[in-house]
Amino acid sequence: MPRKTKITIYYGPLSWFERKVEESEGDGLLEAVFQHDEQRREFRIVQDGVEPASRNPIERPPRLVAKSGDYASLNEHVISNFPGLIRTLNPVRLDLHNPPEQIRTHLVRAFPDTAVKRYKYPTATRQTLADLRDGFASHLVGQSEVREALLASLYPLTRSNRDKPVVIMFYGPSGVGKTETAQFVNGLLGGELMRKQFSMFHSENFASYLFGGRHSEASFARDLLDRESGVVLIDEFDKAAAVFHSAFYQFFDGGVFEDKNYSVDVGRALIICTSNYASEEEIRSALGDALHSRFDALIPFQPLSASEVRTVISDLVDRQFDKLDSNEREVLDPENVKQRLDILARDGANVRRLGKLVSEVISLLLVEALLGGVANPE
Ligand SMILES: Nc1ncnc2c1ncn2[C@@H]1O[C@H](COP(=O)(O)OP(=O)(O)O)[C@@H](O)[C@H]1O
Ligand SMILES: [Mg+2]
Repeated sequence: MPRKTKITIYYGPLSWFERKVEESEGDGLLEAVFQHDEQRREFRIVQDGVEPASRNPIERPPRLVAKSGDYASLNEHVISNFPGLIRTLNPVRLDLHNPPEQIRTHLVRAFPDTAVKRYKYPTATRQTLADLRDGFASHLVGQSEVREALLASLYPLTRSNRDKPVVIMFYGPSGVGKTETAQFVNGLLGGELMRKQFSMFHSENFASYLFGGRHSEASFARDLLDRESGVVLIDEFDKAAAVFHSAFYQFFDGGVFEDKNYSVDVGRALIICTSNYASEEEIRSALGDALHSRFDALIPFQPLSASEVRTVISDLVDRQFDKLDSNEREVLDPENVKQRLDILARDGANVRRLGKLVSEVISLLLVEALLGGVANPE
């Protein structure tokens, strides 16, 4: 009778799993699988009259560990007969991180003692709301109505019996602080922000990203399982084609996202989508009633005035200035940098890539000052 394997399944970020499971050399499930395959291929010759040396009995591995990215290297048939694999390898302990749903259901059936542990994601408390109220103005210029709307829509997340997400759409022109606001809110909760830019996908990849493909392909559900943050940021939601909208119904309703391979329940999370829609009517007609009605709040962002853009530029310059070496700071005048960028404020230019522009101008001026006019040969 084979001795039992103690199986624990962990759902949460990799950093948390690694803290929970302090692995040592040789704990990898993949290595064990490959080694086992090698041994099965071993060719043995038995001579007449010679007693065959008995095979080294395979030692029971004390522990085997598989992480989120590992399942991609297993053949699909190994995944579909995972309990069989585990019986063969027969480890004392098995620790699995974010396994595909099929592995979980089969394991739980074959090994009813399987334990499941879930990471506790940061959630909004009243203190978070107070920090949001008090800290907003020092992170974002203008957009004071956004602050009020956010406070109101986040409030339900502070109720301890809440078990589903709050889903918010930020809309308005680009470069006015939508992504910045999402990052600020996530900073209050902690954990590296999960940010997906829907404009980055081509539609073939996007279908397998959302609906699931082979285990080796990237998937939204797995990214949700792997995330650290309490906030899920879907940037540029308006770039997703209409055929993909239905993928979000269940997710926005109750926080459950399922694809071909994975299933995840984000629970009491904050889901923020951003878009460049100009009005609520435009959102309704572009997304359709079914999706539009699933947002708990639609929060408009206003274009920044010239003086607000100036403030943004000034803050960015000051922040980047703080990061310079003292010898760099000596040769550079922050006011000069601000002046050079002032044209952006006057022309109402797109400040989308402002952060990048600021560091470009600073670098250019540093090169001029430290190397003597190389960048501006006149
Ligand atoms: N209202 C704002 N307050 C502070 N910084 C801003 C604001 N709007 C834009 N920025 C700055 O401009 C850049 C682009 O802002 P971002 O939030 O990405 O714009 P978008 O609305 O397109 O998401 C960021 O580097 C950010 O620091
Ligand atoms: Mg943005």
